[in-house]
Amino acid sequence: MNSDARVKAYDVLSIVEKGNLLDAALSSQLNALGSRQDKSFLAELVKGTARYAGRYDYLIDKFTKRSPDPSIRILLRLGMYQLFNCNSVPDYAAVNETVNAARKVGFHKLSSFINAVLQNVRRTVEGNPEGLIGLFPSPEKEPLQYLTTWYSHPEWMVKRWLEKFSFADCEKLCAHNNCPAHLTLHLNPELDRSELFSYFEKHDIEYSESDLVSSAVIIKSRLARDSINDLLSEFTQVIVQDQSVQSAMDHFSPHLSGNIFDMCAAPGGKTVNMLWRMPEDATLVAMDSVKKRMVKVVDNLARVGESDTPLLVADGLKMPFTDNAYDTILLDGPCSGTGVIRHHPEGRWQLTEKRIFSSGEMLFQLAQNAVDILAPGGKLLYATCSLEPEENEIVINRLLEENSQLSVVEKGKYWLPQTDGADGFFAAIVTRVK
Ligand SMILES: C[S@@+](CC[C@H](N)C(=O)[O-])C[C@H]1O[C@@H](n2cnc3c(N)ncnc32)[C@H](O)[C@@H]1O
Repeated sequence: MNSDARVKAYDVLSIVEKGNLLDAALSSQLNALGSRQDKSFLAELVKGTARYAGRYDYLIDKFTKRSPDPSIRILLRLGMYQLFNCNSVPDYAAVNETVNAARKVGFHKLSSFINAVLQNVRRTVEGNPEGLIGLFPSPEKEPLQYLTTWYSHPEWMVKRWLEKFSFADCEKLCAHNNCPAHLTLHLNPELDRSELFSYFEKHDIEYSESDLVSSAVIIKSRLARDSINDLLSEFTQVIVQDQSVQSAMDHFSPHLSGNIFDMCAAPGGKTVNMLWRMPEDATLVAMDSVKKRMVKVVDNLARVGESDTPLLVADGLKMPFTDNAYDTILLDGPCSGTGVIRHHPEGRWQLTEKRIFSSGEMLFQLAQNAVDILAPGGKLLYATCSLEPEENEIVINRLLEENSQLSVVEKGKYWLPQTDGADGFFAAIVTRVK
């Protein structure tokens, strides 16, 4: 295994620690590596270490007298990921290669400290009859501490979930968030599935049809980026979309009619879903406030042959339309994303509880602006990938309280990772009665 991968992993994790996005920091380093094996090792190291940072921090604090500097903490987390979660790396290599990486990034003097901490944790785990989990708080005596440390989640987040879900459900939710998602496809209802399934068989791709929603196919094999691109260019009537999103769009589809407005559209997954399901006489306009993200909508619509869809870059907080403009509005606005934590290993550490409140306020403003341009009899389809009431039912309740012309079609339905085994999602439908 390329030992540079650990130095590169350290570089990426240092960038992420400063609040940057992992995917962006990782992709520039991946390009600098040659072999597919090295690339996948680097990606695994970075994502796994970020995901389990809370678990390793608990061990670091237990096995050090003074809290180490952030850079040393990153190196210790990297070593622990290789020791405890990375089957392909033997223990001696996990420790030695992390110590070597520490020297290469300039921590010569602290390399013996890193070696001592990693060896000490390794020996203690070996000597514990329960193994690694035996060093963590007990679920019976300290349920909150157990969930936050062993499952590596911020305490404030787990505290909120324990108020809403049972302990067993919280544990399932936290465990789900630590499992990388399978690639899931949404198939155009008109696609001949047999051709797609023959392609899978020809390329040894393991798959299954979803139990949750008939339009979804789950790819069980881990595919390299190139193989995903090959698949998507061969089958243009297939997009990547999680099962719960597809199920929510099933829920919405009977309400698609007339002039449809996709208010926060980028990168365009739900735009495509609606274009494939809306009645022939309906029209659709897609908008997003971020130009760079709108480019992705342009690319995605071109791939599925829907380039003639009208698009615009504008801010939903300063709505560019006036009264009665639309019969159906999809608002899938910017939220905390607590339903999709498994897709973003660093996201849980960058999110704050304050952000949930401010995003709830912004979603309310966007929803109010959508209601203001809804035609009589029109419907607002409201969606988020958040599990938090402040971004979901509290927004819908406030909308109903402040707008007497609205009534409820569907007050709010959750798709929960711990019960559906897919992303978390929320959908509600309100209608303007007069
Ligand atoms: C959850 S994503 C939408 C995902 C999209 N519906 C899809 O299925 O691919 C939220 C989007 O809202 C956009 N957004 C944020 N603030 C906005 C605003 N004030 N007006 C319009 N779009 C906004 C973001 O740029 C982002 O693309």
